[in-house]
Amino acid sequence: MGTEESSIESGVSETLTITDNRTGKSYEVPITDETIRAIDLRQIKVNPDDFGMMTYDPAYTNTASCRSAITYIDGDKGILQHRGYPIEALCEHSSYLEVAYLLVFGELPTTPQLERWVWDVTHHTFVHEDIKAMLEGFRYDAHPMGMLVSAVGAMSTFYPDAKMIEDPEERYMAAIRMIAKMPTLAAFSYRHSLGLPYIYPDNDLSYAGNFLNMLRKMTEVKFEPDPRLERALDVLFILHADHEQNCSTSAVRSVGSSQVDPYSAVAAGVAALYGPLHGGANEQVLRMLRRIETVDNIPDFLNGVKAREEKLMGFGHRVYKNYDPRARIIKKHVDEVLDAVGLDNPLVEIATELEKRALDDEFFTSRKLYPNVDFYSGLIYEALGIPAAMFTVIFAIPRTSGWISQWLEMTDDSEQKIARPRQIYTGDRDLDYVPIEDRNGPEKIAGPPARRPVKSRRGA
Ligand code: ACO
Repeated sequence: MGTEESSIESGVSETLTITDNRTGKSYEVPITDETIRAIDLRQIKVNPDDFGMMTYDPAYTNTASCRSAITYIDGDKGILQHRGYPIEALCEHSSYLEVAYLLVFGELPTTPQLERWVWDVTHHTFVHEDIKAMLEGFRYDAHPMGMLVSAVGAMSTFYPDAKMIEDPEERYMAAIRMIAKMPTLAAFSYRHSLGLPYIYPDNDLSYAGNFLNMLRKMTEVKFEPDPRLERALDVLFILHADHEQNCSTSAVRSVGSSQVDPYSAVAAGVAALYGPLHGGANEQVLRMLRRIETVDNIPDFLNGVKAREEKLMGFGHRVYKNYDPRARIIKKHVDEVLDAVGLDNPLVEIATELEKRALDDEFFTSRKLYPNVDFYSGLIYEALGIPAAMFTVIFAIPRTSGWISQWLEMTDDSEQKIARPRQIYTGDRDLDYVPIEDRNGPEKIAGPPARRPVKSRRGA
């Protein structure tokens, strides 16, 4: 304990006492919700000119960036709840649009509230023809996630009034438009990759049913979705609706904190979701299962993972150190969907055996690596006849309601300011500028490192 004490806030019953061994001073900082405020550390200084103590937390592994009442996760126990309702109950009794309402408004809707919400979403599913024209301009083999990032960003130019981020009507319309149009944009990008004509929304169908319609419809006058597939997709949508402060949601909040319009903020979320460590993992899972090829190859594959040659995609999670509850629910639907489409997919056997062996292996158990939501979702998408490149796009559709809810909450939060982390500067300082003719450098001209051989490279 140091010699001098300073308490920032008197009357706080829970506090943390920190002793700075450089000076011998002690500081008492309040604890609220088992958390201390990083800014309270700023008073810890060696001398009055010091900037003050900061926390260093690359990748925010132990830093809460906001207060939120939307989604609760207990990663050790494998619990996921939205606005207090367990995910299991929502998947059993609710629909995706009802869950979207719950996330956005904080309460389950009454019948008239839900009817109005569904009507509003259903009647905003069309996109401006110029957005369609913009999508048509992409290369035939453009990744649909790249197309989606651009299309969502472009929407901000079609709805410039969304810049009035405090206007309740504009906030509501942005929520409706994004939730309504995301399936249309996703389906258009899919049809684009196949060179097929885009299919306009059918307002007689459910949210999931209409999405299947826009993906699948060919020459039939009216597309009729298989109710089992429609329900499985709706459950997948519920499971992906929100997941508190994950990478893409943090991106939405961070970009949104600049007070940009919500379309631009959500476009940042779509970009973050694109990455293989986030929403891109389900695509990688399927590629991995295909590469493993047969159950007999699993031991060799797992040895490679343990030798750190690669990762077991669809395993591990920053927050869940137990079975991801979403993976448990999805797993139940895999067989149902395969039955509905009459497929006997050999990858299911590989996935099941892979999971069994990994859960029995000390390498994975000691690191608390369990299947995450992406381990099985790809198998359902595949059974629906959706190519791997589309998987992350389908993740983006339901996550839109989570992004919007988090954006609404963030913009209402008086404690939030523009996101602006600090850094620990590690470079040189106060160097004298050296004229180019006086610089001595290595003989070798710096340039990009040699590329690994690839099968084909595309032009610019
Ligand atoms: N395969 C093999 N080893 C793994 C895996 C994996 N999938 N995931 C983590 N590990 C190992 C790490 O190498 C590390 O080992 P070490 O302590 O011996 O160095 C240990 O487990 C801890 O892993 P971290 O990387 O520190 O965990 P982090 O929380 O940073 O990463 C992440 C979480 C990115 C999800 C990671 O588990 C991963 O890359 N998984 C595969 C990709 C994936 O499935 N992503 C989907 C996530 S869910 C979602 O976004 C919807």
